[in-house]
Amino acid sequence: MDTLLQRLKNAKTSQELETIRVEALGKKGSITQKFSELKSLEGEAKKELAKTLNNLKMSFESIHQEKKTQLQTLELKAALEQEKIDVSLFVSNPHKTLGHPISYTKDRIIDYFTYLGYELCIGPLIEDDFHNFAALNLPEYHPARDMQDTFYFKDSMLLRTHTSPVQIRTMQTQVPPIKMICPGPTFRRDYDLTHTPMFHQVEGLVVDNGDKASFSNLKYTLEDFLRYMFGDVKVRFRSSFFPFTEPSAEVDISCVFCDGCGCRVCSQTGWLEILGCGVVDEYVFQAVGYKNVSGYAFGMGIERLAMLTCGVSDLRSFFETDLRVLEQF
Ligand code: DAH
Repeated sequence: MDTLLQRLKNAKTSQELETIRVEALGKKGSITQKFSELKSLEGEAKKELAKTLNNLKMSFESIHQEKKTQLQTLELKAALEQEKIDVSLFVSNPHKTLGHPISYTKDRIIDYFTYLGYELCIGPLIEDDFHNFAALNLPEYHPARDMQDTFYFKDSMLLRTHTSPVQIRTMQTQVPPIKMICPGPTFRRDYDLTHTPMFHQVEGLVVDNGDKASFSNLKYTLEDFLRYMFGDVKVRFRSSFFPFTEPSAEVDISCVFCDGCGCRVCSQTGWLEILGCGVVDEYVFQAVGYKNVSGYAFGMGIERLAMLTCGVSDLRSFFETDLRVLEQF
């Protein structure tokens, strides 16, 4: 038995320790077998042997436990030493690790605006008519509702057609000043080369007291943002219409493929349409009960930005989970 205890003390790995434990206390182990000899004894002799065996078992177990803890600690330390990762190591091709173009583009947009102090908000994907349309100055039968082919549920709820309802929800729960962006999925009944039924938008909203939030603040912010996204491009504001903003504008950048000379991607115009924006319409403020405030808002499709920054020509390929496409990023 002394050799058993000696072997236990000399064990070098937890594996070896376990082998010795099984040899001693397993079903056919040497100590277990000694216990079965008790059956054939009686009286003092039985008592004597039982006492010896119990003592032996206890010493075995206590040495085993102590040794086990000691070896496990050493083994953990060795494993940590070996598997150490140097997170500061230089990565030679960061473009291989961009992730999905949509997430990558969304994260870049979030980075820009949160750096400027915009709060990141999210809203429900299933919306009611009030938040998705009515409060945004799109009353029932308003022709602009047709621009947004909507998926309706039976109970007049719907899949949000844009991220603009999050403007309303934010204003209903906060007081100015507000600076928020809301990225997320949106849904419309559309499917072709440049449309999918589910796509992503980012909404931005700034509201301040009095007349502090102006169109020139909006213009400066968006121009700077677009140069952050696309580099040294020209930016132009074209007057447009959105029911929830007045005045409204659409914002173009000079084509990143032909540098404004005219090519297939920009339909020979030299310009690429990127986002919509404007000064928040007074009607929208009324709908949420705001008085004496000013604000501006903007909204953009993340897919469009991702197609331009990552050079993808068919929008559907973002969602087809084809590894050959995804592996390129
Ligand atoms: N909600 C618009 C859409 O889906 C995008 C948009 C345009 C949002 C102008 C805005 C805005 O906040 O000011 O087409």
